Amino acid sequence: MTAQTIRDLLPSAAGRAVIVRSDLNVPLNDGKVTDDGRIRASLPVITDLARAGAKVIVLAHLGRPNGTVVPQYSLAPVAQRMTELTDISVTLAEDVTGISAQDKAAQLEDGQILLIENVRFDARETSNDDAERAVLATEFAALAGPDGAYVNDAFGAVHRKHASVYDIASLLPSYQGALVATELNVLDRLIVDPHRPYTVVLGGSKVSDKLAVIDNLLDRADTLLIGGGMAFTFLKAQGHDVASSLLEEDQIPVVKDYLRRSEAGAANIVIPTDVIVAEAFSADAAHAVVDANAMASGPGGSDGLGLDIGPATAKLYSQHIEASSTVFWNGPMGVFEMENFAGGTYAVAKALTNVQGLSVVGGGDSAAAVRALGFADEDYGHISTGGGASLEYLEGKALPGIDALAR
Ligand code: 3PG
Repeated sequence: MTAQTIRDLLPSAAGRAVIVRSDLNVPLNDGKVTDDGRIRASLPVITDLARAGAKVIVLAHLGRPNGTVVPQYSLAPVAQRMTELTDISVTLAEDVTGISAQDKAAQLEDGQILLIENVRFDARETSNDDAERAVLATEFAALAGPDGAYVNDAFGAVHRKHASVYDIASLLPSYQGALVATELNVLDRLIVDPHRPYTVVLGGSKVSDKLAVIDNLLDRADTLLIGGGMAFTFLKAQGHDVASSLLEEDQIPVVKDYLRRSEAGAANIVIPTDVIVAEAFSADAAHAVVDANAMASGPGGSDGLGLDIGPATAKLYSQHIEASSTVFWNGPMGVFEMENFAGGTYAVAKALTNVQGLSVVGGGDSAAAVRALGFADEDYGHISTGGGASLEYLEGKALPGIDALAR
C-alpha cells in the first residue's frame, strides 16, 4: 500500500489537530542554533497545515538525552528560531505528554503551532519494549483528540523505530510529509538507474558506520572516493604506515575485501595519495603535506595524526566529481572545523557545485560543513536532512517510519 501524502490531508485539515513529526535535531552553541537547515526544511509542511486552518502539534527530538530531562537539550532555542523564520508564532510545551502539553494542546486554536518539548526526555520514546512505546504513542495521539491526524515529515529520523516516528502511525490517520517525499525521490535517483558516471564521496571518522553503504554502492556506483578518518583504515589495508591516525584495526579485513572487489570490477575505490599530517589534534598544531606512504616521517613522527586529505588528493577527487553526472557525498574529508584541516572538505564541497547533473549532499555533518564553509543550499541539487537515514536508505534497509505510513 502506498502512503497518503500531505496533499491528501490539506483539504480536510481545517479545525483538526494535526501532529507533525519533524526532525529539528540541529546543532546548538551557547543556546543558539548554529545551522538551521533542518528547521527551514521542516517549516513548509508545518506552516502549510497552519495556514490551512489546522491546529499543528509538532513532535521532535534534540540530541540523545536518554530518557531524562536534560536542560541543554530543550527545544526552546528551536522554538525561538522557528518563530523567527515564520510569521506564525510557535509556543513550546514544557513537557512531553504532561500537564503543560495537554493544556497547551487543548487551548490551541486553528492556525496555531505548538512544539512539544524534546520527545526523548521521555524514556518510552526510544524504548525497545513495544508496549512501552505504544503507551507513549497513545498519549501523543490523545493530544490531537478524536479527529486528529498524523504527518511524518521527519526524514532524518525515519530509520528509528520510535514512538513518535513509528508507533503513532497506527493510531491516527497518517500521511507522508512533503520533505520525506522529496528526500525519497532524490535518493531513488541514486539507486535506480543513476546517470553515469556516478561518483560517491565518503568521509567521516568511522569505516564501521559506512560498511553497509560501501557494500551496496560498490555494485552501483562507478567510483568511490574515500576521505576523512576512515581513509586511514583503507591506507593501512594497503600496507601504509598511518602513524597515530584514526584506525579501525578490526575493519582491515573487510576493507581488504572491498579493495579486492573493486579490482575485480566493482566500483573503482580511490584512496588518498597525500595527507595533511599534524603533530597533535589542535587547530594550531604544526602540520605538513606528506605522501600517503610517508606519514610517519611527517610532523610528530609515529605520533603524527592525519587530519585532512592533501592537496593532490583534493585535486584528483575534484576532477572525478566534476566529470560525473551523479554525485553523492557523505562525510567530511578532514577536520573541517579547524581552518588548517578544512582544505579537502572545501575542495569537495566546491567541486560538487560544478557538477553538471545531480549533486546530493547527505548527512548532518556534510550539510553543516557546506554551510559553514560558505556555500548556499542552492549550489547543490539537494542537501539531504538525513544523515543515518539517507545512508540506511542507500543501503537498501527498510525504514520503520516509512513502512509505518504504508500499513
Ligand atoms: C540525525 O541527526 O541524524 C537524526 O536527527 C537522528 O538522530 P539520532 O541518530 O540521534 O537518532
